[in-house]
Amino acid sequence: MTWEELESACLSCRRCALWETRTNVVVGVGNRAARVMLVGEGPGEQEDLKGEPFVGRAGQLLDTMLAIIGLSRAKNVYIANIVKCRPPKNRDPLNTEQDACIGYLREQFKLIRPAIIICLGRIAAGRIIGPDFKITQDHGKWYVKDGVHITALYHPAALLRDPGRRPETFEDLKSIEAKIREICPEVYAS
Ligand code: URA
Repeated sequence: MTWEELESACLSCRRCALWETRTNVVVGVGNRAARVMLVGEGPGEQEDLKGEPFVGRAGQLLDTMLAIIGLSRAKNVYIANIVKCRPPKNRDPLNTEQDACIGYLREQFKLIRPAIIICLGRIAAGRIIGPDFKITQDHGKWYVKDGVHITALYHPAALLRDPGRRPETFEDLKSIEAKIREICPEVYAS
């Protein structure tokens, strides 16, 4: 699938009921040649209105977190979600919705071929790392699947609710920076 085919498939998608309430499909944002990809759970209100992931308050915090380790959506990461349409009232996406949508994320992985995937929060980590993943105990750990290095951070919205988790997240960010320097130092070369 090409990017154009993927985008047009997403924009006309009716594989689950979320199409009925969406304003925009939120496919993703960032550098399509990025070595580092981030995956959240699904668009919220602001994202639905704008058609771009992580543009609300949690998104502002995410941008700050990325800047701490020299990353940005404008330059060297690509950001997508498990589901591309907003679940009503920001509820968790249902398993059936995730199942219907996950193929689009797989196509994004194929097109981008990231070296590192960072899951944002328990929903993304549960899908990508595995159903036994526990965010409170497993955030910051590294997993390898098909040669791709994968980790998870607390979701930025969770960090807004519970700032007490920020010091651990700072350590996790430093671990991500070290992993990037180890396996794709070119990210910091330019
Ligand atoms: N939360 C997410 O998981 N994804 C977004 O795009 C915005 C908020």
